[in-house]
Amino acid sequence: MKFKKQIFGFLDMLRFTKLVPNRRAALAAGSTEPLPKSWRTNELARRLHPGMMDVELTAVRQLAPGMQEFVFRRLDGGAFPFFRAGQYISLQGIVGESIVSRPYSIVSSPREALAGKLALGVADAGFFSGYLNREAKPGDRFRMSEPSGEFHYETLRDKPQIVCVAGGAGITPFVSMARSMAEGDEPFSMTLFYGARTEAQLAYKKELDALADKGLRTVYVLSDEEKPGFEHGFVTAELLEQYVDPREVTYFLCGPQAMYAFVAGQLAKYSLPVKAVHKDATCCPNLALDAPRTFQLTVHVRDEVFMMPAREDETLLTAMERGSIPAPNKCRAGGCGYCHSKWLGGEFCIADGRDGRREADRKFGFIHPCVTYPLSDIEIDVPASE
Ligand code: FES
Repeated sequence: MKFKKQIFGFLDMLRFTKLVPNRRAALAAGSTEPLPKSWRTNELARRLHPGMMDVELTAVRQLAPGMQEFVFRRLDGGAFPFFRAGQYISLQGIVGESIVSRPYSIVSSPREALAGKLALGVADAGFFSGYLNREAKPGDRFRMSEPSGEFHYETLRDKPQIVCVAGGAGITPFVSMARSMAEGDEPFSMTLFYGARTEAQLAYKKELDALADKGLRTVYVLSDEEKPGFEHGFVTAELLEQYVDPREVTYFLCGPQAMYAFVAGQLAKYSLPVKAVHKDATCCPNLALDAPRTFQLTVHVRDEVFMMPAREDETLLTAMERGSIPAPNKCRAGGCGYCHSKWLGGEFCIADGRDGRREADRKFGFIHPCVTYPLSDIEIDVPASE
């Protein structure tokens, strides 16, 4: 190969010969001050993404029969990280021999969390939530994940008017969204349809009513009571049409699966695009099996190996919690990927509609234990928890 020699190429070579002396001179002229130990960008990243936080329960109050509010502070006295109204945290505690955690929607607004206070509304249903409702008291300590989740308003995707439909304890993310809107931090206007059996079962009613003059419109829908000032029945298409133009809004739904199915049926006639309806994820439940078999679950965590029983009606994550293995998890619904683990052998099935794995994960044998049930003895490799 022939190279064409050019005069400028020789000049470059001359500059190159001065490179080393120039660098030496620059180093000699440099400051002798030690480098800073931390940088502003890193500090901000730590504030926004603190990982797991140690927290203390500071107050408990009854919201409705079978539902209480729990207020937390960080043990290090810091602010909770900024989040998007509608997101959740995962609360972790030790109950008996088990390390248990559950995701809960945040009730506080992002501003309240930045002021150091974070509240959750928890219904007395299930193992950990039942423990919280019956036994947790101020002074108790827990671990809490940083906020996560996709259930929040997105300016580019969502319409300026949103309709939120809450069923029972599903009111919690909407309290945060309504507060955030009232504080001027959200660009949407919000109509909230809040369904419960009776008026007594409406949590946060006083707080929601107080936000009426800050732009929140709340429609209470009671299924088992007829009262002036309340709608009766369920959130039907006819009811929606009385308050909004159902084709010109974005929907946010949070409540039991039966409510999702009912509201989806009501909205079907509007032929809405998929992006017009957002549903909050719910934890993957136990399967209803008459005589569930029990298999052996072998878990590798770094260079340690643990063995424990795993019932076929419970997820692998539940089996690990029973076995006191602190397996990482957040959403418990197959969506966040935080529990992402390597499958090493055995048969399993994944809950219907919960397989949130990427194609590459399926191909290379990764699973989400939070939505995976054993069908034989099974062996997995789990990342170490924080
Ligand atoms: S905990 Fe979120 S995918 Fe398993």
